[in-house]
Amino acid sequence: MTRASLDKQPHEVASMFDGVAANYDLTNDVLSLGQARLWRKEVARAVNARPAQKVLDLAAGTATSSMPFAATGAYVVPCDFSLGMLREGKKRHPWLPLTAGDATKLPFRDDVFDTVTISFGLRNVHDTDSALRELYRVTKPGGQVVICEFSQPTWEPFRTVYKEYLMRALPPVARGVSSNPDAYVYLAESIRAWPDQPALAGLLQKAGWSKVAWRNLTGGVVALHRGVKAGQA
Ligand SMILES: C[S@@+](CC[C@H](N)C(=O)[O-])C[C@H]1O[C@@H](n2cnc3c(N)ncnc32)[C@H](O)[C@@H]1O
Repeated sequence: MTRASLDKQPHEVASMFDGVAANYDLTNDVLSLGQARLWRKEVARAVNARPAQKVLDLAAGTATSSMPFAATGAYVVPCDFSLGMLREGKKRHPWLPLTAGDATKLPFRDDVFDTVTISFGLRNVHDTDSALRELYRVTKPGGQVVICEFSQPTWEPFRTVYKEYLMRALPPVARGVSSNPDAYVYLAESIRAWPDQPALAGLLQKAGWSKVAWRNLTGGVVALHRGVKAGQA
């Protein structure tokens, strides 16, 4: 298995990420032209983790996305269903409690985490609604969700160039830097098919989240969505 199709069958998605695990972070940095680091800083700011808080980093992959939260002294649980990505993460960060789990059936009790967050993961989950409901279930009342995901550039001329030209150019560029270029065909296709900012906000509300808002990064190439689980912290 080298790439998943757009119906995102879980075994295809997991095996695709198993295949790219070793080079995943390097390829990310190259293809995002260094923007990935900037996006991660903004996620860290939104999550605002503090010592002793419990943070779930869902679809954490190799746990690179978990490191900014761990650095604050928060207790971070990176969770993913690709054993290949988790193994790579364990090699690099053996002290982290990397956990195997499916976003649509999380292996955690209700009301456990102060913040749940997912970076570049939700788009790959086969059932977005049930992942958003599961994130809600495991969050403490008063806790928050932060979602970082590719989205729609807001300036129309740039949106056209981005979707029609850059996304089509991605697979050939990936051939030069990735061990599994077909995975980047899936990346481009899944970005083009993903809901825009207001549509994703609507899905969060439908799953129960309140105070839903978003902020665009890099002109809307990426959006940070936030929501709160009503109740007392
Ligand atoms: C693009 S990587 C993102 C990794 C990391 N969060 C980051 O920002 O670098 C997407 C991850 O989502 C995981 N994933 C996709 N569907 C999942 C699911 N249903 N449950 C758990 N993890 C899932 C994949 O295994 C993969 O590691």
